[in-house]
Amino acid sequence: MVTSDRLAVIVDDITRLQVDAIVNAANVKLLGGGGVDGAIHAAAGDQLLEACRLLGGCETGDAKVTPGFELNAEYIIHAVGPLWNGGRYGEREQLASCYRRALELAAELECTSVAFPCISTGIYGYPKHDACQIAINTVREHIEQYDYPEQVIFCCFSQEDGQLYRDSLRH
Ligand code: AR6
Repeated sequence: MVTSDRLAVIVDDITRLQVDAIVNAANVKLLGGGGVDGAIHAAAGDQLLEACRLLGGCETGDAKVTPGFELNAEYIIHAVGPLWNGGRYGEREQLASCYRRALELAAELECTSVAFPCISTGIYGYPKHDACQIAINTVREHIEQYDYPEQVIFCCFSQEDGQLYRDSLRH
């Protein structure tokens, strides 16, 4: 499969997707929160919080896995992106790192399909255009080297974000 066939953009609620793994935009405590994290915990059910407690948190730039519980997805990969603080505090590398770690975990689990939200671009305030470039570049680097995941879906939550990703993927 060529690289471009392995990338897709959709506008949807990530909790509804039927994929092997969805990625959560979590925080270092891994105990839930607002945004997509809150939506994932609400949809996956209370067992998710119990499973997260056992993980003992996660560093910024890293990712950890739980089952998907009541979701259609088999796994949830909880990735911790950076809080935007102006761009001089390693945010770019931390954002790339959390995508890379989530993809490595998906490859270890031999996930065929994985969906990502636009990590750090909501409550954490990362500029959307820059975050989109980092997401696409990091995913491209991974899929050039690994067979898994076969398909990576950028699951945007607004038409505007969907257009940004579609435009960026053409370049
Ligand atoms: N499906 C897909 N995308 C969604 C959904 C959804 N159901 N809901 C929101 N988004 P955010 P962050 C989009 O704020 O910036 C939490 O409290 C949203 O439009 O969820 O990484 C965590 O616990 C945006 O494009 O995550 C952390 O404390 C993207 O998901 C903190 O927020 C990410 O927005 C993480 O902040």
